[in-house]
Amino acid sequence: MKLKFRTPAKVNLTLNILRKREDGFHELETILQMVSLYDELELESLPLGIELECDTPGIPTDETNLACKAALLLQETCRVEDRGVRIRLKKNIPFGAGLGGGSGNAAGVLMGLNRLWNLNMSREKLAILAAELGSDVPFFVTSPCALGVGRGEQLEVLAPCSKFQVLLVFPGFPIATPWVYQNLKLKLTKRENNISILRKFLSLSDIASLGSQLHNDLEPVVIQRFPEIQIIKDELQARGALGVLLSGSGSTVFGIFNDPEKARVACAGLNGEWERVVTETIGSFSEFLPGEILNYQ
Ligand code: C5P
Repeated sequence: MKLKFRTPAKVNLTLNILRKREDGFHELETILQMVSLYDELELESLPLGIELECDTPGIPTDETNLACKAALLLQETCRVEDRGVRIRLKKNIPFGAGLGGGSGNAAGVLMGLNRLWNLNMSREKLAILAAELGSDVPFFVTSPCALGVGRGEQLEVLAPCSKFQVLLVFPGFPIATPWVYQNLKLKLTKRENNISILRKFLSLSDIASLGSQLHNDLEPVVIQRFPEIQIIKDELQARGALGVLLSGSGSTVFGIFNDPEKARVACAGLNGEWERVVTETIGSFSEFLPGEILNYQ
């Protein structure tokens, strides 16, 4: 049996760091939103073993890849070492870009193998396993829009806002997440928490007001080291974006728009050699998951 489907990217509409924890992670609050840039996954049953094929240079195909780790974790947890899979991965989401591409792939493997291996695990159980793989992985099995707290793995589902456009601009270099967190200088005086304001604007689908509230505590660290990020931000702002922000720990900068044509014109007009794509917010898993996986749990 073979399953073919796509896994999306995400942006963080806000990311507030609250404090450093004893385990080295940071306590945070973030609003995550899936967007319509996709990697392509194919899962094919094998009698034994876990194989990964990916022809994108720089992407590991051994057990260090999160997609392989996801398959191994599921195999061990469900004690199905007698079942195998060949994973074929086509990357469209850049690596080290703050778009959660690898996390989405891992979540896709969990949901897909749950079907392929007939494991009958609930989304809630898959989300618990997903948290072992990375802070962003549970989001990709939970909801297209969610509030994440703790490491980012404790999620509250948020009702989808009406669709808006997210113009993603990738500067062409990756950024290592641990480096960003290590260089974070936490302020003693905290700004006012903007989560409830953002939630309100999301629920009202007020994209202009939402744009004015985008915030990421990781952004200053990244801009100080990579000044090009500020240049991209300024360009997006000048092209009429309603809000502009670094996604996660970068390196992607995004601008939001409430008109597809305006987003398209801004994308074409950006003055720089950066990779860019206009995406739309995702409102439902049915936009990218096939019925076989969707209707399974
Ligand atoms: O959870 P994940 O493997 O994606 O995290 C990658 C790195 O990012 C961690 O090793 C840690 O350095 C940092 N991180 C953090 N606090 C978080 C999430 C990630 O310090 N809440």
